[in-house]
Amino acid sequence: MSELPGSSKPVTTIGDLSKYDDTSVTIRGWVYNKRSSGKIHFILVRDGSGIAQCVVVKSQVSPEVFGAFDLLSQESSLTVTGKVHKDDRAPGGYEIQVEDLAIVHVAKDYPITPKEHGTEFLMDHRHLWLRSARQHAILKIRHRIIKAVRDFFDGKGFTLVDSPILTPASVEGTSTLFETEYFDLGKAYLTQSGQLYAEASAMAMGKVYCFGPTFRAEKSKTRRHLTEFWMVEPEVAWANLNDNMDLAEEFIEYVVQTVLGNSAEELKLLERDVTKLQTVKRPFPRLHYDEAVEILKKNGVDFQYGNDLGAADETIISQQYDRPVMVHHYPAACKAFYMKRDPEREDLTLSVDVLAPEGYGEIIGGSQREDDYDTLLKRLEEFNLPREPFEWYLDLRRYGSVPHSGFGLGIERTVAWICGIEHVRETIPFARMIYRNTP
Ligand code: 4AD
Ligand code: MG
Repeated sequence: MSELPGSSKPVTTIGDLSKYDDTSVTIRGWVYNKRSSGKIHFILVRDGSGIAQCVVVKSQVSPEVFGAFDLLSQESSLTVTGKVHKDDRAPGGYEIQVEDLAIVHVAKDYPITPKEHGTEFLMDHRHLWLRSARQHAILKIRHRIIKAVRDFFDGKGFTLVDSPILTPASVEGTSTLFETEYFDLGKAYLTQSGQLYAEASAMAMGKVYCFGPTFRAEKSKTRRHLTEFWMVEPEVAWANLNDNMDLAEEFIEYVVQTVLGNSAEELKLLERDVTKLQTVKRPFPRLHYDEAVEILKKNGVDFQYGNDLGAADETIISQQYDRPVMVHHYPAACKAFYMKRDPEREDLTLSVDVLAPEGYGEIIGGSQREDDYDTLLKRLEEFNLPREPFEWYLDLRRYGSVPHSGFGLGIERTVAWICGIEHVRETIPFARMIYRNTP
């Protein structure tokens, strides 16, 4: 048995085994599972790029190599050298006929076993849970979604300009701010959204997006709320509400179709019904808030006109369609200070929320922005916001103000929808929620 990872053979990843059919290679990974028929041992090895079945035949290896099988507990790390064989029955389509193997580290009593564990137990062991096939697939899809997000905006002439995380003021209401002492300057807040700074960037670059973590001290313990989540926020100079909706639907179609085209294997592992994603094509239905309220009333909901749509309301509305629906013109009373009002209906905003199908609810919130200096000043007062930390923001309305619009897409809710999973806690590597900030 080798002391060191077999160096005489090419070292490869399991994902690349197809390039080495009928050749001896070395792979490095962790024991996913194992079984034995006495004279033949089967070790399933994972390395992050895939899973390979490694076959150890007693008559073909040294007694040490054959005996090593007994020491190889779940998640022990090892290197395996052997000949690659195409085998359609093997997971991943390739099998390794073991010639040599080296144990790197024996894992003692790995806490996550193939038996069922409760969610809290798994969340407590999130740092290990990430190794399981399902979590691996979700993270792969999350990565694919983020790449599609970037490719989409980069391909349309947007410039990535990131916004700060430590900020002097709120964006989305003062009730969900995380605050911290900031040296001699008083309080600073973890940003709820990069939008206000993206507006400044849009005035410099035309079309921008920012993409980073955002924070809400949400007291909500629901399947769609995190206290730390990632948001991508495009902002476009000269764009109105309609342009904003055109961009949002093209964007979502692109992201979903790109994931369908590239992540078939992961979606299959998650048992996602992809027919529900194939229909995500433009145009998306566009519903005025008033029409949305009509739908709720027809469905027997006792809905108070002027209220925001709750999760249950969103589900009823989105159930009418086989693709995301865009609800626009929400009442000002339930939206943020920066939203421009409808000139014909001062009580309504030029806002849009995109609701994902299958009960996933709001994944995008956006609007045309108030671009008039006096009106914006009035709004700050109406919302009881201090003027001083917003002086720079008012400057954007003092110096060459133009109509502009943008939106924010929450990555975790999007991952939950595309993966078809119940709760956002599984869509981010290490979830932060009202009752959890570990591991
Ligand atoms: O609707 P929201 O609050 O909009 C904004 O923050 C705007 N400033 C964005 C903009 O116009 N640039 O949030 C946007 C999206 C939501 O639709 C949702 O997908 C996600 O961010 N989101 C959350 N995701 C997880 N947990 C939370 N607590 C979330 N709050 C919002
Ligand atoms: Mg919203």
